[in-house]
Amino acid sequence: MIMGMVFLVFFSFVVAASAGNFNQDFDITWGNGRAKILGNGQLLTLSLDKISGSGFRSKKQYLFGQIDMQIKLVPGNSAGTVTAYYLSSLGSSHDEIDFEFLGNVSGEPYILHTNIFTKGQGNREQQFYLWFDPTKDFHTYSILWNPQTIIYSVDGTPIREFKNLESKGIPFPKSQPMWIFSSLWNADDWATRGGLVKTDWSRAPFTASYRNFNAQTSKSSSAGNSWFTQSLDATGQARIKWVQKNYMIYNYCTDTKRFPQGFPPECSLSSKL
Ligand SMILES: *[C@@H]1O[C@H](CO)[C@@H](O)[C@H](O)[C@H]1NC(C)=O
Repeated sequence: MIMGMVFLVFFSFVVAASAGNFNQDFDITWGNGRAKILGNGQLLTLSLDKISGSGFRSKKQYLFGQIDMQIKLVPGNSAGTVTAYYLSSLGSSHDEIDFEFLGNVSGEPYILHTNIFTKGQGNREQQFYLWFDPTKDFHTYSILWNPQTIIYSVDGTPIREFKNLESKGIPFPKSQPMWIFSSLWNADDWATRGGLVKTDWSRAPFTASYRNFNAQTSKSSSAGNSWFTQSLDATGQARIKWVQKNYMIYNYCTDTKRFPQGFPPECSLSSKL
C-alpha cells in the first residue's frame, strides 16, 4: 500500500515533469543559434537581430487539441518586431490558426493580431489590445480546436471563436493535421502603426521567451467534460463580449471599406465571430 502510494507519487511527478519539455516537443528550425532551449527543456527563447530572426516547430502534428503555451514578449522598444505563434498545415489549401504579436515602442501597447485560414483562404483578421503588459510576465495563450469550434483564449479568457459552420457552406479545419510554429522576425514594413515606426536595431537582440507548453490531445476524459466536446458556455460568451467591447481594435466583419460588396458569409451567421 505504502509502496503503491510512493510509486504513484513518483509516477505522477515523472508525468508532470515530462509534460512540456521543449527538447521532446519541438525542433528549432531556423536562426543559426538565435533560438535556444534552456534549463533542461523548460524554457525556450527566440531572438532577432539585424541579420536574422529565429523559429521553432513542433515535432508532432495535431488534429484537434487543447494547446497552451506561456509566452513573454520582447520587452522595451519592440517596435517593428513580430512574434508569431500559430498552428498550420502545409500546402496551397492549408488551414491555419494564428496568434501574431506586433511590438511597439516602450510603454505603448502591443497588438494581438489573429487570423484563421481554411482551405488556403484567410482574410479573417481580428486585432486586440491586451488588458496587461505582455512583456512583464509570462501569460498563457491557448487554442481550443475541436470538431465544433476554435476558441482563442488569453489566460483562460476567451477572446475569439470560429464555429464550425460547414452546414452553411463555410469550410472548417478538420482533416489536415497541423504543426505548431513560432518565429520572431522583423516586419517593420507593416507591423507597428502600419510600418510608420521602424525597428531600432541599436536595441537588438530582441528576445521572446516560452515555457509550460501543454497539449491535450486525448479525446476522452474520465471527468466527462473533455476539451473535445467543449463549447463556449454563457460565462465564456459574456467574457468574449467583454473583450470584444473593450479591447478589440479591428474586426474584418465590420470593415465596410474592405468589403464594399458585403461581408464574408460567416460574419452574419455568428455574432460571436
Ligand atoms: C502602438 O502604439 C500606438 C500609439 O499608442 C498605437 O496606435 C498602436 O496601435 C500600437 N501598436 C502597434 C502594434 O502599432
